Amino acid sequence: MLTGRNILLGISGGIAAYKTPHLVRLLKKKGAQVQVLATASALKFVSELSLSTVSEASVFNDIFESNHDDRSDRTLHITLGEWADAMLVAPATANTIARLSAGFCDDMLSLSFITLRPGKPVLLVPAMDGNMYESASVQRNLSVLARQGCHILEPESGPLASGQCGLGRMPEPETIADALEKVLAVRSESALNGKTVLVTAGPTREKIDDVRFLSNYSSGKMGFAIANEAARRGAVVRLVTGPVTLPTPPGVERFDVESADEMLETSRQFFDDCDLFIGAAAVADYRPLAPVSGKVKKNEAEMHLRLIRNPDILATFSAGRRAGQIAVGFALETNGGLDYARKKLQDKKLDLVAFNIYDRRTSGFEIDTNVLTLLNRDGQITELPLLSKQEAAGRLLDTVETLLFR
Ligand code: CTP
Repeated sequence: MLTGRNILLGISGGIAAYKTPHLVRLLKKKGAQVQVLATASALKFVSELSLSTVSEASVFNDIFESNHDDRSDRTLHITLGEWADAMLVAPATANTIARLSAGFCDDMLSLSFITLRPGKPVLLVPAMDGNMYESASVQRNLSVLARQGCHILEPESGPLASGQCGLGRMPEPETIADALEKVLAVRSESALNGKTVLVTAGPTREKIDDVRFLSNYSSGKMGFAIANEAARRGAVVRLVTGPVTLPTPPGVERFDVESADEMLETSRQFFDDCDLFIGAAAVADYRPLAPVSGKVKKNEAEMHLRLIRNPDILATFSAGRRAGQIAVGFALETNGGLDYARKKLQDKKLDLVAFNIYDRRTSGFEIDTNVLTLLNRDGQITELPLLSKQEAAGRLLDTVETLLFR
């Protein structure tokens, strides 16, 4: 997986930096080109000469220094971001994690992190004292980076430089190289790598008055699992979601909306750009014809609400798509239903429909599992077993990849 790959190795100033010449050696042995970007503090723990010797290249640190001659490049920080297939930061200290999460760019490590081409994987290997690692600040900064799509290799437990035993040790170079290979493998094997994916998720809310709405029980779990999996496979993912309480999957750009109309308009901005559209939202089919401003009072024994059809987001996009754009929908049915799903596939002119029965036990809203049957435009049927929604998302995307992209 590392043969011929260009790896930016960021090294920051922690005691574990002493292991990095061995890490460079290992990556090179596996066939990678390694460009070391060390912070000034890192070079107090490990010598520049060792790193440049094992990497067979100058070590870059200061953005204004002219030891960049071997690349004869005036905008090195940008070309390195383009050159790299992946960036690895090991060890990633609390300070470097804070600086990367805040977008600082005053040394080659932080600058190259910012100029790394979108969609290129970053693997961070935090290593520090246990109390530091578990501190609220470090955890908050790591979660910012995880949301940006960085992969994080958890530190190991064991003896620390402080003499204490605990979580915070940098894993051995072999473990780090394996983790990097895994990150690259998932992407390089995926037809979704580099593709742009637009996913709708969650329920919509259709306003009755200023304090009430019509909605459904959708939790957004299936759509979020799909967005998460597509991003893991290297896709650029935009997720347009109704109101849910889920965290944004790493690397996914999220847009929060309320009504079906807003979901359509927000998604429309990104539709032309996408290679794959997956409608996983439980869009309300109807909305109140005339939402009332203020609060409706309970004056009458009966209340009649006039509803009007909402736009069908999936059908709208599917009808207007250009050649090569893929449209996938869901068909949630409470009984029987494969025929309904087939009809949706045909009526909405989809490439694939994921049929799921709503039984509230194994599949449906709010729960973590799903049983999907996939029907494609050529009439092929794939029945999936009971799976977690994350696994089901993986199998759905496998089918999208094999049937549609290859
Ligand atoms: N969908 C959509 N916009 C709507 C309604 C549905 O984009 N206004 C999408 C959903 O995201 C899903 C698919 O269409 O991918 C199927 O939705 P579903 O409600 O199950 O089917 P409908 O076509 O609305 O038919 P019915 O409610 O009659 O079963």
